[in-house]
Amino acid sequence: MAQIRVAGKIIREISEQIPNGQLAMTKLIKNAYEANANSIKISINTVGSDIIIRDDGSGMNDNEIGSLLNLSHSDKIFGSKVNGRYVSGEKGLGFFSAFKFGRMISVDTSDPDDSSIKRSFKLDMAEIGKTSDVSNLDVPVEKSTNNKGKGTIIRITRLNVDAVKLFCKSLSQAGFSSRLTNIIDDTSFSINILVDGVHVADDYIENDKFKQARIATISLLGPDEVDTTGAVLVCVGHEKSKIQIPQNIGRILNTKHLKLWAEISVYRLQGLGIDYAPKIYLFDDHKLHPLVYINDSLFEGEGLYNVEVNASGKTNRVFRQQTGKISLYLDKPDILSFNADRTRIIDSTRLRELKALLDFISSEGQSEVRRLIDLQSKSHESSKRCMVMLLAWTVLIIMKRQMAVIFRRRVKVQLWVVKQSPEGEKMERRLNCC
Ligand SMILES: Nc1ncnc2c1ncn2[C@@H]1O[C@H](COP(=O)(O)OP(=O)(O)O)[C@@H](O)[C@H]1O
Ligand SMILES: [Mg+2]
Repeated sequence: MAQIRVAGKIIREISEQIPNGQLAMTKLIKNAYEANANSIKISINTVGSDIIIRDDGSGMNDNEIGSLLNLSHSDKIFGSKVNGRYVSGEKGLGFFSAFKFGRMISVDTSDPDDSSIKRSFKLDMAEIGKTSDVSNLDVPVEKSTNNKGKGTIIRITRLNVDAVKLFCKSLSQAGFSSRLTNIIDDTSFSINILVDGVHVADDYIENDKFKQARIATISLLGPDEVDTTGAVLVCVGHEKSKIQIPQNIGRILNTKHLKLWAEISVYRLQGLGIDYAPKIYLFDDHKLHPLVYINDSLFEGEGLYNVEVNASGKTNRVFRQQTGKISLYLDKPDILSFNADRTRIIDSTRLRELKALLDFISSEGQSEVRRLIDLQSKSHESSKRCMVMLLAWTVLIIMKRQMAVIFRRRVKVQLWVVKQSPEGEKMERRLNCC
């Protein structure tokens, strides 16, 4: 009988396969979120050469530590909800992404039932990498009492200097750091990231100047809000318009266990400069894009929603500066399939249907914005014309009255001339009465 054995090097492989530090950190953040934490604090200390990730979640008991160390095993089910939060783990590999940043991981975690009990263990890549079969590797777990505070603390040391440097460099970009601190769309969970004691930027708030540049909103009305397959609601000022989504495009909205929600703002910056926009929407292409969340988790991997969809047609139908949020909810694992690190959705008929619907929202939404703007400027023009006409009429009436007054006065003058005739006082008064 033969046996499948796994050498320790596999763990290094797993962490090396993770394309970047952002993705590695995202997995650790999601673990804290799924452990029902209210907050996570990530402190990167380049001087002290460590990274400390502290959450106030449930912590782990012996079984959960065992499950954590069981490679590629997970009790989580994608799309299910625990404590009202969507679960996105299930691959059983996320924790090992900590090795992306360093070769030594120390964990302190409180007991889920009694937070005064603490369990501590260490994973040393130098040791793990040497083993020909990881299942033979013992990981001692120390148990202590008098623990203060609940949750898990992961300390990464013997840092991979280059990976940490690159990660810190990306964190210095406001758009990148804002997206990482808002990677979970849930106000009951906060993410704080500090680099050498300094908080990284979290720019989500619109300033007044930018707000004034908003010209329209485009939103999706699902089949439960309208009687049809769904509609796109476009608002420009007080003008509102509802575009019905054709049956073949809107069909996906009737898919069981799938829900789509979209609320997009459209801007005309007109020299305002993109720098006034909240950085979270500013991407590498120097354009503003709405954020796409899948099960409350930011999805950056693929251009699901395309702001450029009208770019090849008439330029006056292109409103590419857009912010807002598109949220996709999948309540079951097999509605759409993802690659291993969930950065890409595997091609399928359903994915194509979803893209076609999002393209419809973007394309028809932008064209309708144009139509409503034109309509508004036309009605503005005609009301301007009405005003001018009204003014002209008023002037004409006033002039007519003035003319009449002047004319009457002239008659009087003529009568006065008659009155000045030498025929006497009485005659003069009578004529004045006439
Ligand atoms: N911060 C944490 N707090 C509590 N439990 C955690 C934490 N991180 C990991 N775990 C536990 O370790 C398990 C394995 O995590 P992970 O390797 O990311 O795989 P997955 O999340 O896919 O299950 C989780 O299912 C969870 O039980
Ligand atoms: Mg996980």
